[in-house]
Amino acid sequence: FIDLDRKGPQISPALYGIFIEDINHGIDGGLYSELVRNRSFEHTNPLEGWLINIEGQANAVIESVDPIGEQNKNYMKISIRDEKSKVILSNAGYDGFSLEKNKNYLFSVFAKGRSKLNIILHNAGIIYANVCLEIDSNNWRKYELELFPAEKCENAVFSIEINEPSDVSLDMISLISPNSWNKIMRNDLVEMLQNLQPGFMRFPGGCLVEGYNLENAYRWKDTIGPVEYRKTKANLWGYYQSYGVGFHEYFLLCEHLSSEPVPVVNAGISCQVRGAQFCPVDQIDEWVQDALDLIEYANGSTSTVWGNKRMINGHEKPFNLKYLGIGNENWGEEYQNRFKIFQQVIKEKYPDIKLIFSCPPEYEGPIFDEAITWAKSNGIQIIDEHIYAPFEWFLANADRYDSYDRNGPKVMIGEYACHVSGRRNNLQAALAEAAFMTGLERNSDVVVMASYAPLFNRVGWSQWTPDLIWFDASRVYGTPSYYVQKMFSTNPGDVIIYSILSPEDQPIISGMAGLGSWKTQVEFDHIKISNFEKILLYDDFAKNEKTWQSYRGIWKIDNGVLKQTSLGEDRRAYFGEKNWTDYAIEVRARKISGTEGFLV
Ligand code: AHR
Repeated sequence: FIDLDRKGPQISPALYGIFIEDINHGIDGGLYSELVRNRSFEHTNPLEGWLINIEGQANAVIESVDPIGEQNKNYMKISIRDEKSKVILSNAGYDGFSLEKNKNYLFSVFAKGRSKLNIILHNAGIIYANVCLEIDSNNWRKYELELFPAEKCENAVFSIEINEPSDVSLDMISLISPNSWNKIMRNDLVEMLQNLQPGFMRFPGGCLVEGYNLENAYRWKDTIGPVEYRKTKANLWGYYQSYGVGFHEYFLLCEHLSSEPVPVVNAGISCQVRGAQFCPVDQIDEWVQDALDLIEYANGSTSTVWGNKRMINGHEKPFNLKYLGIGNENWGEEYQNRFKIFQQVIKEKYPDIKLIFSCPPEYEGPIFDEAITWAKSNGIQIIDEHIYAPFEWFLANADRYDSYDRNGPKVMIGEYACHVSGRRNNLQAALAEAAFMTGLERNSDVVVMASYAPLFNRVGWSQWTPDLIWFDASRVYGTPSYYVQKMFSTNPGDVIIYSILSPEDQPIISGMAGLGSWKTQVEFDHIKISNFEKILLYDDFAKNEKTWQSYRGIWKIDNGVLKQTSLGEDRRAYFGEKNWTDYAIEVRARKISGTEGFLV
Protein backbone atom coordinates (compact mmCIF):
# COMPACT_ATOMS: atom_id res chain seq x y z
CA PHE A 1 0.00 0.00 0.00
CA ILE A 2 1.29 3.39 -0.87
CA ASP A 3 0.28 6.54 0.89
CA LEU A 4 1.00 9.42 -1.47
CA ASP A 5 0.40 11.96 1.25
CA ARG A 6 3.18 10.76 3.47
CA LYS A 7 6.43 11.80 1.83
CA GLY A 8 9.85 10.99 3.18
CA PRO A 9 13.33 12.04 2.03
CA GLN A 10 14.23 13.04 -1.53
CA ILE A 11 16.12 10.33 -3.39
CA SER A 12 19.45 11.57 -4.65
CA PRO A 13 19.52 11.49 -8.48
CA ALA A 14 23.10 10.32 -8.12
CA LEU A 15 22.27 7.48 -5.72
CA TYR A 16 23.18 4.56 -7.98
CA GLY A 17 26.51 4.89 -9.70
CA ILE A 18 29.48 2.92 -10.93
CA PHE A 19 33.00 2.46 -9.66
CA ILE A 20 35.69 2.04 -12.32
CA GLU A 21 39.08 0.65 -11.43
CA ASP A 22 41.68 -1.03 -13.62
CA ILE A 23 41.53 -4.40 -11.89
CA ASN A 24 40.95 -7.72 -13.70
CA HIS A 25 42.12 -5.90 -16.88
CA GLY A 26 38.93 -3.90 -16.71
CA ILE A 27 40.55 -1.00 -18.57
CA ASP A 28 43.78 -2.13 -20.27
CA GLY A 29 42.67 -5.28 -22.05
CA GLY A 30 39.07 -4.27 -21.39
CA LEU A 31 37.30 -0.95 -21.75
CA TYR A 32 40.23 0.58 -23.64
CA SER A 33 39.93 -0.02 -27.38
CA GLU A 34 43.64 -0.70 -27.76
CA LEU A 35 44.10 -4.30 -28.91
CA VAL A 36 47.90 -4.48 -28.71
CA ARG A 37 49.40 -5.46 -25.38
CA ASN A 38 52.52 -3.50 -24.36
CA ARG A 39 52.45 -1.29 -27.46
CA SER A 40 55.29 0.91 -26.23
CA PHE A 41 57.69 -1.75 -24.85
CA GLU A 42 57.63 -0.13 -21.42
CA HIS A 43 56.82 -3.19 -19.25
CA THR A 44 59.55 -4.54 -16.95
CA ASN A 45 60.01 -7.18 -19.57
CA PRO A 46 59.90 -4.87 -22.61
CA LEU A 47 58.92 -7.78 -24.84
CA GLU A 48 55.95 -8.92 -22.73
CA GLY A 49 53.11 -9.73 -25.12
CA TRP A 50 55.44 -9.85 -28.16
CA LEU A 51 56.87 -12.69 -30.16
CA ILE A 52 59.98 -11.75 -32.14
CA ASN A 53 61.08 -13.86 -35.05
CA ILE A 54 64.47 -13.11 -36.57
CA GLU A 55 65.81 -14.86 -39.65
CA GLY A 56 69.27 -14.44 -41.21
CA GLN A 57 71.34 -11.29 -40.97
CA ALA A 58 68.87 -9.27 -38.95
CA ASN A 59 68.43 -7.81 -35.52
CA ALA A 60 65.58 -6.51 -33.33
CA VAL A 61 66.56 -4.90 -30.05
CA ILE A 62 65.03 -2.63 -27.44
CA GLU A 63 66.71 0.78 -27.32
CA SER A 64 66.14 3.97 -25.40
CA VAL A 65 68.80 6.38 -26.64
CA ASP A 66 66.48 8.64 -28.63
CA PRO A 67 62.97 8.10 -27.25
CA ILE A 68 59.66 9.66 -28.27
CA GLY A 69 59.41 11.32 -24.87
CA GLU A 70 60.68 11.30 -21.31
CA GLN A 71 57.84 9.07 -20.11
CA ASN A 72 58.08 6.69 -23.06
CA LYS A 73 61.69 5.63 -23.27
CA ASN A 74 61.82 2.24 -24.94
CA TYR A 75 61.38 1.45 -28.61
CA MET A 76 62.23 -1.41 -30.94
CA LYS A 77 65.15 -0.95 -33.33
CA ILE A 78 65.21 -3.29 -36.30
CA SER A 79 68.05 -3.77 -38.77
CA ILE A 80 68.02 -6.10 -41.74
CA ARG A 81 71.20 -6.60 -43.71
CA ASP A 82 70.18 -8.51 -46.86
CA GLU A 83 67.28 -9.64 -49.05
CA LYS A 84 67.17 -13.13 -47.51
CA SER A 85 66.74 -11.93 -43.93
CA LYS A 86 63.65 -10.83 -42.07
CA VAL A 87 62.10 -9.81 -38.77
CA ILE A 88 58.54 -10.52 -37.69
CA LEU A 89 57.00 -8.88 -34.61
CA SER A 90 53.76 -10.49 -33.46
CA ASN A 91 51.27 -9.60 -30.80
CA ALA A 92 48.06 -11.43 -29.92
CA GLY A 93 46.76 -8.89 -27.45
CA TYR A 94 45.16 -10.66 -24.53
CA ASP A 95 43.62 -13.81 -26.04
CA GLY A 96 43.94 -13.16 -29.74
CA PHE A 97 41.94 -10.48 -31.53
CA SER A 98 38.35 -10.89 -32.47
CA LEU A 99 38.07 -9.65 -36.06
CA GLU A 100 34.88 -8.62 -37.77
CA LYS A 101 34.57 -8.80 -41.50
CA ASN A 102 35.10 -5.52 -43.40
CA LYS A 103 35.34 -3.36 -40.28
CA ASN A 104 38.09 -0.76 -40.09
CA TYR A 105 40.88 -1.60 -37.64
CA LEU A 106 42.96 1.52 -37.14
CA PHE A 107 46.67 0.76 -37.13
CA SER A 108 49.20 3.37 -36.08
CA VAL A 109 52.89 3.40 -35.30
CA PHE A 110 55.57 5.93 -34.43
CA ALA A 111 58.55 5.24 -36.62
CA LYS A 112 61.81 6.66 -37.86
CA GLY A 113 64.25 5.32 -40.45
CA ARG A 114 63.57 3.71 -43.82
CA SER A 115 61.71 0.49 -44.39
CA LYS A 116 58.62 -1.24 -45.72
CA LEU A 117 56.35 -2.79 -43.08
CA ASN A 118 53.88 -5.50 -43.94
CA ILE A 119 51.05 -5.22 -41.47
CA ILE A 120 49.18 -8.49 -41.28
CA LEU A 121 46.18 -9.88 -39.42
CA HIS A 122 46.27 -13.65 -39.58
CA ASN A 123 45.69 -16.96 -37.87
CA ALA A 124 46.86 -20.50 -38.59
CA GLY A 125 48.23 -19.56 -41.98
CA ILE A 126 45.11 -17.66 -43.09
CA ILE A 127 45.65 -13.98 -43.83
CA TYR A 128 42.65 -11.78 -43.05
CA ALA A 129 44.21 -8.42 -43.89
CA ASN A 130 47.57 -7.34 -45.25
CA VAL A 131 48.72 -3.78 -45.95
CA CYS A 132 52.16 -2.41 -46.77
CA LEU A 133 53.39 0.78 -45.10
CA GLU A 134 56.42 2.67 -46.27
CA ILE A 135 58.47 4.42 -43.59
CA ASP A 136 60.72 7.28 -44.59
CA SER A 137 61.57 9.71 -41.86
CA ASN A 138 64.66 10.92 -40.01
CA ASN A 139 62.65 11.80 -36.91
CA TRP A 140 59.83 10.17 -35.02
CA ARG A 141 56.67 10.39 -37.08
CA LYS A 142 53.22 8.91 -36.61
CA TYR A 143 51.91 6.73 -39.45
CA GLU A 144 48.32 5.54 -39.67
CA LEU A 145 46.32 3.22 -41.89
CA GLU A 146 43.24 1.05 -41.77
CA LEU A 147 42.94 -2.71 -42.08
CA PHE A 148 39.70 -4.36 -43.25
CA PRO A 149 39.58 -8.09 -42.45
CA ALA A 150 38.22 -10.16 -45.33
CA GLU A 151 36.55 -12.59 -42.92
CA LYS A 152 35.53 -12.92 -39.33
CA CYS A 153 38.08 -14.50 -37.00
CA GLU A 154 37.91 -15.10 -33.24
CA ASN A 155 41.59 -15.27 -32.32
CA ALA A 156 43.69 -13.45 -34.83
CA VAL A 157 47.31 -12.44 -34.41
CA PHE A 158 48.73 -9.15 -35.56
CA SER A 159 52.21 -9.08 -37.13
CA ILE A 160 54.62 -6.62 -38.65
CA GLU A 161 56.92 -8.30 -41.11
CA ILE A 162 60.00 -6.62 -42.58
CA ASN A 163 61.83 -8.55 -45.23
CA GLU A 164 64.09 -6.16 -47.07
CA PRO A 165 67.35 -4.47 -46.08
CA SER A 166 66.47 -1.58 -43.81
CA ASP A 167 66.97 0.22 -40.51
CA VAL A 168 63.92 1.35 -38.67
CA SER A 169 62.78 2.13 -35.11
CA LEU A 170 59.19 1.50 -34.02
CA ASP A 171 57.19 2.55 -30.98
CA MET A 172 53.53 2.94 -29.94
CA ILE A 173 52.45 0.08 -32.19
CA SER A 174 48.71 0.30 -31.94
CA LEU A 175 45.58 -1.33 -33.32
CA ILE A 176 42.28 0.20 -32.28
CA SER A 177 39.10 -1.80 -32.37
CA PRO A 178 36.53 -0.55 -34.89
CA ASN A 179 33.76 -1.04 -32.37
CA SER A 180 34.82 1.92 -30.30
CA TRP A 181 33.26 4.93 -28.76
CA ASN A 182 35.45 7.87 -29.87
CA LYS A 183 38.23 5.39 -30.72
CA ILE A 184 38.81 5.16 -26.96
CA MET A 185 36.46 2.64 -25.39
CA ARG A 186 34.85 -0.60 -26.45
CA ASN A 187 31.28 0.07 -27.58
CA ASP A 188 29.80 -3.03 -26.01
CA LEU A 189 31.26 -2.25 -22.58
CA VAL A 190 30.28 1.43 -22.78
CA GLU A 191 26.78 0.29 -23.69
CA MET A 192 26.63 -1.92 -20.62
CA LEU A 193 27.47 1.13 -18.54
CA GLN A 194 25.04 3.32 -20.42
CA ASN A 195 22.27 0.84 -19.73
CA LEU A 196 22.88 1.33 -16.03
CA GLN A 197 22.28 5.10 -16.35
CA PRO A 198 24.76 5.65 -13.53
CA GLY A 199 24.17 8.76 -11.46
CA PHE A 200 27.87 9.07 -10.67
CA MET A 201 31.17 7.49 -11.56
CA ARG A 202 33.89 6.94 -8.97
CA PHE A 203 37.35 6.46 -10.48
CA PRO A 204 40.18 5.41 -10.93
CA GLY A 205 40.30 3.15 -7.80
CA GLY A 206 40.44 1.60 -5.24
CA CYS A 207 43.71 0.27 -3.96
CA LEU A 208 45.02 1.27 -7.37
CA VAL A 209 45.03 4.92 -6.27
CA GLU A 210 47.04 4.08 -3.17
CA GLY A 211 49.67 1.91 -4.86
CA TYR A 212 51.73 -0.77 -3.14
CA ASN A 213 54.10 2.08 -2.23
CA LEU A 214 53.96 5.81 -2.89
CA GLU A 215 56.08 5.47 -6.01
CA ASN A 216 53.44 3.11 -7.36
CA ALA A 217 50.50 5.40 -6.51
CA TYR A 218 48.25 6.56 -9.34
CA ARG A 219 49.11 10.14 -10.36
CA TRP A 220 46.45 11.67 -12.58
CA LYS A 221 48.95 13.99 -14.30
CA ASP A 222 50.70 10.93 -15.78
CA THR A 223 47.49 10.08 -17.58
CA ILE A 224 46.59 13.14 -19.67
CA GLY A 225 47.83 14.63 -22.94
CA PRO A 226 48.91 12.81 -26.12
CA VAL A 227 49.07 9.07 -25.42
CA GLU A 228 52.61 8.76 -26.76
CA TYR A 229 53.82 11.02 -23.93
CA ARG A 230 51.86 9.31 -21.17
CA LYS A 231 53.60 7.06 -18.73
CA THR A 232 53.08 3.30 -18.84
CA LYS A 233 53.00 2.16 -15.26
CA ALA A 234 52.73 -1.03 -13.25
CA ASN A 235 49.64 -1.06 -11.09
CA LEU A 236 48.96 -2.57 -7.70
CA TRP A 237 47.00 -5.40 -9.31
CA GLY A 238 50.13 -6.82 -10.91
CA TYR A 239 50.02 -5.58 -14.47
CA TYR A 240 50.84 -2.53 -16.54
CA GLN A 241 48.52 0.27 -17.47
CA SER A 242 49.08 2.22 -20.67
CA TYR A 243 46.94 5.11 -19.32
CA GLY A 244 45.35 5.27 -22.76
CA VAL A 245 42.21 5.71 -20.69
CA GLY A 246 43.31 8.43 -18.29
CA PHE A 247 41.64 11.16 -16.32
CA HIS A 248 40.55 13.15 -19.36
CA GLU A 249 38.87 10.09 -20.84
CA TYR A 250 37.21 9.29 -17.51
CA PHE A 251 35.76 12.80 -17.44
CA LEU A 252 34.57 12.37 -21.03
CA LEU A 253 32.93 9.10 -20.10
CA CYS A 254 31.15 10.77 -17.17
CA GLU A 255 29.85 13.39 -19.55
CA HIS A 256 28.74 10.74 -22.04
CA LEU A 257 26.91 8.81 -19.33
CA SER A 258 25.54 11.96 -17.63
CA SER A 259 27.21 10.81 -14.42
CA GLU A 260 28.67 13.03 -11.72
CA PRO A 261 32.44 12.54 -11.75
CA VAL A 262 33.81 11.37 -8.39
CA PRO A 263 37.59 11.13 -8.76
CA VAL A 264 39.75 9.84 -5.93
CA VAL A 265 43.25 11.12 -5.21
CA ASN A 266 45.93 9.63 -3.04
CA ALA A 267 46.09 11.12 0.47
CA GLY A 268 49.87 10.76 0.66
CA ILE A 269 49.51 7.19 1.95
CA SER A 270 50.12 3.96 0.06
CA CYS A 271 47.81 0.97 0.47
CA GLN A 272 47.26 0.63 4.22
CA VAL A 273 46.17 -3.00 4.13
CA ARG A 274 49.47 -3.81 2.43
CA GLY A 275 51.53 -1.96 5.05
CA ALA A 276 51.30 1.75 4.44
CA GLN A 277 54.05 4.08 3.39
CA PHE A 278 53.24 7.57 4.69
CA CYS A 279 54.43 10.71 2.99
CA PRO A 280 55.75 12.84 5.86
CA VAL A 281 53.22 15.52 6.78
CA ASP A 282 55.71 18.30 6.07
CA GLN A 283 56.12 16.99 2.51
CA ILE A 284 52.45 16.50 1.76
CA ASP A 285 52.15 19.67 -0.37
CA GLU A 286 52.90 17.83 -3.58
CA TRP A 287 49.90 15.53 -3.06
CA VAL A 288 47.63 18.37 -2.01
CA GLN A 289 48.75 20.35 -5.06
CA ASP A 290 47.78 17.39 -7.27
CA ALA A 291 44.28 17.62 -5.85
CA LEU A 292 44.08 21.40 -6.36
CA ASP A 293 45.35 21.10 -9.92
CA LEU A 294 42.85 18.38 -10.64
CA ILE A 295 40.00 20.64 -9.59
CA GLU A 296 41.44 23.37 -11.79
CA TYR A 297 41.77 20.93 -14.68
CA ALA A 298 38.12 19.94 -14.31
CA ASN A 299 36.55 23.29 -13.50
CA GLY A 300 39.04 26.07 -14.15
CA SER A 301 38.64 28.65 -16.89
CA THR A 302 40.82 28.24 -19.94
CA SER A 303 42.99 31.09 -18.70
CA THR A 304 44.21 28.96 -15.79
CA VAL A 305 47.20 26.67 -16.23
CA TRP A 306 45.27 23.43 -15.87
CA GLY A 307 42.03 24.67 -17.40
CA ASN A 308 44.13 25.57 -20.43
CA LYS A 309 45.53 22.04 -20.56
CA ARG A 310 41.96 20.72 -20.53
CA MET A 311 41.20 22.91 -23.53
CA ILE A 312 44.34 21.77 -25.35
CA ASN A 313 43.25 18.20 -24.67
CA GLY A 314 40.03 18.95 -26.53
CA HIS A 315 37.52 20.10 -23.92
CA GLU A 316 37.01 23.81 -23.59
CA LYS A 317 33.96 23.56 -21.35
CA PRO A 318 34.59 22.68 -17.70
CA PHE A 319 33.65 19.21 -16.49
CA ASN A 320 31.74 20.63 -13.51
CA LEU A 321 33.39 18.58 -10.79
CA LYS A 322 31.53 18.63 -7.47
CA TYR A 323 33.06 15.77 -5.47
CA LEU A 324 36.56 14.66 -4.68
CA GLY A 325 37.62 11.56 -2.73
CA ILE A 326 40.72 11.97 -0.57
CA GLY A 327 42.28 8.55 -0.12
CA ASN A 328 40.92 5.05 -0.36
CA GLU A 329 40.44 2.64 2.54
CA ASN A 330 42.61 4.82 4.80
CA TRP A 331 42.08 5.20 8.50
CA GLY A 332 43.62 6.21 11.82
CA GLU A 333 45.46 9.25 13.04
CA GLU A 334 47.97 9.29 10.20
CA TYR A 335 45.16 9.56 7.69
CA GLN A 336 43.17 12.04 9.74
CA ASN A 337 46.17 14.38 10.05
CA ARG A 338 46.73 14.31 6.33
CA PHE A 339 43.05 14.63 5.48
CA LYS A 340 42.84 17.76 7.65
CA ILE A 341 45.49 19.43 5.49
CA PHE A 342 43.71 18.54 2.26
CA GLN A 343 40.44 19.73 3.76
CA GLN A 344 41.83 23.05 4.91
CA VAL A 345 43.64 23.90 1.68
CA ILE A 346 40.95 22.71 -0.73
CA LYS A 347 38.05 24.24 1.17
CA GLU A 348 39.82 27.56 1.25
CA LYS A 349 40.18 27.68 -2.51
CA TYR A 350 37.14 25.62 -3.55
CA PRO A 351 34.54 25.77 -0.74
CA ASP A 352 31.85 24.12 -2.89
CA ILE A 353 33.76 20.94 -3.64
CA LYS A 354 32.45 18.14 -1.46
CA LEU A 355 35.30 16.13 -0.02
CA ILE A 356 34.86 12.44 0.62
CA PHE A 357 36.51 10.95 3.67
CA SER A 358 37.62 7.36 3.36
CA CYS A 359 36.61 4.66 5.85
CA PRO A 360 38.70 1.61 6.72
CA PRO A 361 38.03 -1.64 4.86
CA GLU A 362 36.28 -2.95 7.99
CA TYR A 363 32.70 -1.71 7.85
CA GLU A 364 32.02 -2.68 11.48
CA GLY A 365 33.98 -2.73 14.71
CA PRO A 366 36.19 -0.36 16.68
CA ILE A 367 38.33 0.95 13.79
CA PHE A 368 35.24 1.78 11.80
CA ASP A 369 33.50 3.35 14.81
CA GLU A 370 36.55 5.47 15.51
CA ALA A 371 36.57 6.73 11.90
CA ILE A 372 32.89 7.70 12.11
CA THR A 373 33.36 9.44 15.44
CA TRP A 374 36.27 11.44 14.04
CA ALA A 375 34.33 12.27 10.87
CA LYS A 376 31.42 13.58 12.92
CA SER A 377 33.51 15.99 14.87
CA ASN A 378 35.65 17.21 11.97
CA GLY A 379 33.15 18.61 9.54
CA ILE A 380 33.23 15.67 7.15
CA GLN A 381 30.50 15.97 4.53
CA ILE A 382 30.56 12.49 3.04
CA ILE A 383 32.20 9.28 4.18
CA ASP A 384 33.07 6.40 1.87
CA GLU A 385 32.11 2.98 3.23
CA HIS A 386 33.22 -0.25 1.55
CA ILE A 387 31.31 -3.45 2.16
CA TYR A 388 32.28 -6.87 0.82
CA ALA A 389 30.24 -9.42 2.73
CA PRO A 390 28.42 -12.72 2.47
CA PHE A 391 24.75 -13.20 1.70
CA GLU A 392 23.67 -13.48 5.34
CA TRP A 393 25.25 -10.15 6.21
CA PHE A 394 23.51 -8.27 3.42
CA LEU A 395 20.11 -9.68 4.33
CA ALA A 396 20.56 -9.00 8.02
CA ASN A 397 21.75 -5.46 7.30
CA ALA A 398 19.06 -4.18 4.99
CA ASP A 399 18.25 -1.80 7.84
CA ARG A 400 21.87 -0.67 8.39
CA TYR A 401 21.06 2.98 7.74
CA ASP A 402 17.63 3.13 9.42
CA SER A 403 19.19 4.07 12.72
CA TYR A 404 22.12 6.02 11.25
CA ASP A 405 22.82 9.36 12.89
CA ARG A 406 21.05 12.04 10.86
CA ASN A 407 23.34 14.72 12.21
CA GLY A 408 26.56 13.10 11.01
CA PRO A 409 28.13 12.97 7.54
CA LYS A 410 26.29 11.61 4.51
CA VAL A 411 27.33 8.23 3.19
CA MET A 412 28.72 7.10 -0.11
CA ILE A 413 29.06 3.33 -0.31
CA GLY A 414 31.84 3.57 -2.83
CA GLU A 415 32.28 -0.20 -3.05
CA TYR A 416 30.05 -3.10 -2.13
CA ALA A 417 29.31 -6.62 -3.27
CA CYS A 418 27.69 -9.67 -1.80
CA HIS A 419 29.29 -13.04 -2.34
CA VAL A 420 28.25 -16.59 -1.77
CA SER A 421 30.61 -19.53 -1.42
CA GLY A 422 33.53 -19.50 -3.81
CA ARG A 423 33.26 -15.71 -4.00
CA ARG A 424 30.56 -15.86 -6.59
CA ASN A 425 27.70 -13.48 -7.21
CA ASN A 426 24.81 -15.65 -8.22
CA LEU A 427 21.09 -14.92 -8.00
CA GLN A 428 21.11 -15.42 -4.24
CA ALA A 429 23.82 -12.78 -3.84
CA ALA A 430 21.99 -10.44 -6.19
CA LEU A 431 18.77 -10.78 -4.20
CA ALA A 432 20.57 -9.98 -0.98
CA GLU A 433 22.06 -6.89 -2.65
CA ALA A 434 18.59 -5.89 -3.78
CA ALA A 435 17.29 -6.20 -0.21
CA PHE A 436 20.20 -4.08 1.00
CA MET A 437 19.56 -1.50 -1.70
CA THR A 438 15.96 -1.03 -0.58
CA GLY A 439 17.52 0.09 2.71
CA LEU A 440 19.84 2.51 0.89
CA GLU A 441 17.00 4.07 -1.02
CA ARG A 442 14.72 4.24 2.02
CA ASN A 443 17.47 6.14 3.81
CA SER A 444 18.18 8.55 1.00
CA ASP A 445 18.48 11.37 3.48
CA VAL A 446 21.83 9.89 4.57
CA VAL A 447 22.92 7.55 1.77
CA VAL A 448 23.73 9.76 -1.19
CA MET A 449 25.72 7.43 -3.46
CA ALA A 450 26.38 3.71 -3.82
CA SER A 451 28.35 1.70 -6.35
CA TYR A 452 29.02 -2.01 -6.80
CA ALA A 453 32.64 -3.18 -7.01
CA PRO A 454 34.57 -4.28 -8.93
CA LEU A 455 32.88 -3.38 -12.17
CA PHE A 456 34.72 -5.43 -14.81
CA ASN A 457 36.48 -8.75 -15.20
CA ARG A 458 38.17 -10.06 -18.32
CA VAL A 459 37.76 -13.83 -18.37
CA GLY A 460 41.14 -15.42 -17.73
CA TRP A 461 42.78 -12.20 -16.50
CA SER A 462 41.20 -11.91 -13.10
CA GLN A 463 42.53 -10.81 -9.71
CA TRP A 464 39.24 -10.40 -7.86
CA THR A 465 35.78 -11.89 -7.76
CA PRO A 466 32.87 -11.34 -7.71
CA ASP A 467 32.49 -8.67 -10.38
CA LEU A 468 29.56 -6.99 -12.05
CA ILE A 469 30.36 -7.44 -15.75
CA TRP A 470 32.45 -10.13 -17.42
CA PHE A 471 33.79 -10.06 -20.95
CA ASP A 472 36.27 -11.61 -23.35
CA ALA A 473 37.62 -10.41 -26.69
CA SER A 474 34.18 -10.12 -28.27
CA ARG A 475 31.49 -10.98 -25.74
CA VAL A 476 30.14 -9.34 -22.63
CA TYR A 477 27.61 -10.42 -20.03
CA GLY A 478 26.13 -9.01 -16.89
CA THR A 479 25.89 -11.06 -13.71
CA PRO A 480 22.59 -11.19 -11.78
CA SER A 481 24.04 -8.36 -9.67
CA TYR A 482 24.30 -6.27 -12.85
CA TYR A 483 20.59 -6.65 -13.47
CA VAL A 484 19.82 -5.71 -9.88
CA GLN A 485 21.90 -2.55 -10.30
CA LYS A 486 20.14 -1.83 -13.55
CA MET A 487 16.69 -2.39 -12.09
CA PHE A 488 17.33 0.07 -9.28
CA SER A 489 19.27 2.69 -11.19
CA THR A 490 16.92 2.88 -14.17
CA ASN A 491 13.87 3.17 -11.96
CA PRO A 492 14.87 5.89 -9.58
CA GLY A 493 12.28 7.64 -7.50
CA ASP A 494 12.21 11.32 -6.60
CA VAL A 495 11.03 10.97 -3.08
CA ILE A 496 10.39 8.19 -0.58
CA ILE A 497 6.70 7.52 -0.07
CA TYR A 498 5.61 5.53 2.91
CA SER A 499 4.45 2.12 1.92
CA ILE A 500 3.51 -1.15 3.52
CA LEU A 501 3.76 -4.58 2.09
CA SER A 502 0.73 -6.62 3.09
CA PRO A 503 0.22 -10.27 2.27
CA GLU A 504 -3.35 -11.04 1.18
CA ASP A 505 -5.01 -12.04 4.36
CA GLN A 506 -2.10 -12.65 6.57
CA PRO A 507 -1.09 -10.46 9.42
CA ILE A 508 1.83 -8.16 8.80
CA ILE A 509 4.71 -9.90 10.40
CA SER A 510 8.24 -8.88 11.30
CA GLY A 511 7.22 -5.32 11.89
CA MET A 512 6.92 -3.77 8.45
CA ALA A 513 5.46 -0.90 10.32
CA GLY A 514 4.49 1.56 7.69
CA LEU A 515 7.19 3.98 8.55
CA GLY A 516 9.60 1.94 6.62
CA SER A 517 11.27 -0.01 9.35
CA TRP A 518 12.15 -3.66 9.56
CA LYS A 519 12.60 -3.87 13.30
CA THR A 520 11.63 -7.01 15.10
CA GLN A 521 11.54 -5.18 18.35
CA VAL A 522 10.54 -1.59 18.74
CA GLU A 523 10.09 0.99 21.38
CA PHE A 524 6.54 2.17 21.57
CA ASP A 525 5.90 4.92 24.00
CA HIS A 526 8.61 3.50 26.21
CA ILE A 527 6.96 0.12 26.10
CA LYS A 528 8.84 -2.51 24.22
CA ILE A 529 6.77 -4.25 21.62
CA SER A 530 7.88 -7.63 20.55
CA ASN A 531 6.00 -10.62 19.22
CA PHE A 532 5.22 -8.77 16.10
CA GLU A 533 3.26 -11.69 14.72
CA LYS A 534 0.60 -10.75 17.18
CA ILE A 535 0.28 -7.18 16.09
CA LEU A 536 -2.02 -7.74 13.24
CA LEU A 537 -3.21 -5.40 10.55
CA TYR A 538 -4.41 -2.03 11.58
CA ASP A 539 -5.79 0.37 9.09
CA ASP A 540 -4.31 3.72 8.50
CA PHE A 541 -7.44 5.64 8.99
CA ALA A 542 -5.64 8.32 10.84
CA LYS A 543 -7.73 10.78 8.97
CA ASN A 544 -10.80 9.00 10.26
CA GLU A 545 -10.05 8.21 13.82
CA LYS A 546 -13.40 6.65 14.41
CA THR A 547 -13.00 4.04 11.80
CA TRP A 548 -9.57 3.33 13.03
CA GLN A 549 -10.85 2.82 16.53
CA SER A 550 -13.65 0.58 15.49
CA TYR A 551 -11.22 -1.85 13.95
CA ARG A 552 -8.72 -1.97 16.63
CA GLY A 553 -8.14 -5.20 18.39
CA ILE A 554 -7.55 -5.76 22.04
CA TRP A 555 -4.20 -5.02 23.50
CA LYS A 556 -2.73 -5.91 26.76
CA ILE A 557 0.52 -5.31 28.51
CA ASP A 558 2.24 -8.56 29.24
CA ASN A 559 5.38 -8.31 31.38
CA GLY A 560 6.00 -4.81 30.14
CA VAL A 561 5.44 -5.81 26.55
CA LEU A 562 2.49 -4.50 24.63
CA LYS A 563 0.69 -7.29 22.87
CA GLN A 564 -2.39 -7.59 20.82
CA THR A 565 -4.60 -10.48 21.79
CA SER A 566 -7.44 -10.31 19.31
CA LEU A 567 -7.96 -9.14 15.79
CA GLY A 568 -10.97 -7.00 16.26
CA GLU A 569 -13.48 -7.31 13.47
CA ASP A 570 -12.79 -8.99 10.23
CA ARG A 571 -12.07 -6.13 7.89
CA ARG A 572 -12.85 -8.12 4.84
CA ALA A 573 -16.46 -8.31 5.91
CA TYR A 574 -16.53 -4.58 6.23
CA PHE A 575 -14.95 -3.95 2.87
CA GLY A 576 -17.09 -6.52 1.11
CA GLU A 577 -15.34 -8.25 -1.74
CA LYS A 578 -12.62 -5.73 -2.07
CA ASN A 579 -9.15 -6.98 -1.79
CA TRP A 580 -7.26 -5.69 1.19
CA THR A 581 -4.53 -4.47 -1.01
CA ASP A 582 -6.89 -1.78 -2.25
CA TYR A 583 -6.43 0.14 0.95
CA ALA A 584 -3.63 2.12 2.35
CA ILE A 585 -2.67 0.42 5.52
CA GLU A 586 -0.40 1.53 8.23
CA VAL A 587 0.29 -0.59 11.24
CA ARG A 588 -0.68 1.38 14.27
CA ALA A 589 -0.99 0.55 17.89
CA ARG A 590 -2.65 2.22 20.79
CA LYS A 591 -1.89 1.71 24.37
CA ILE A 592 -4.78 0.51 26.43
CA SER A 593 -4.63 3.79 28.30
CA GLY A 594 -5.38 5.54 25.04
CA THR A 595 -2.13 7.37 24.15
CA GLU A 596 -1.56 6.95 20.48
CA GLY A 597 1.71 6.32 18.67
CA PHE A 598 3.25 4.80 15.65
CA LEU A 599 5.33 1.74 15.53
CA VAL A 600 8.74 2.84 14.43
O1 AHR B 1 37.26 -3.43 -5.56
C1 AHR B 1 38.47 -4.07 -5.31
C2 AHR B 1 39.26 -3.47 -4.18
O2 AHR B 1 38.58 -3.65 -2.98
C3 AHR B 1 39.46 -1.98 -4.24
O3 AHR B 1 40.55 -1.64 -5.00
C4 AHR B 1 39.70 -1.63 -2.82
O4 AHR B 1 39.31 -0.31 -2.50
C5 AHR B 1 38.96 -2.68 -2.04
O5 AHR B 1 39.74 -3.24 -1.07
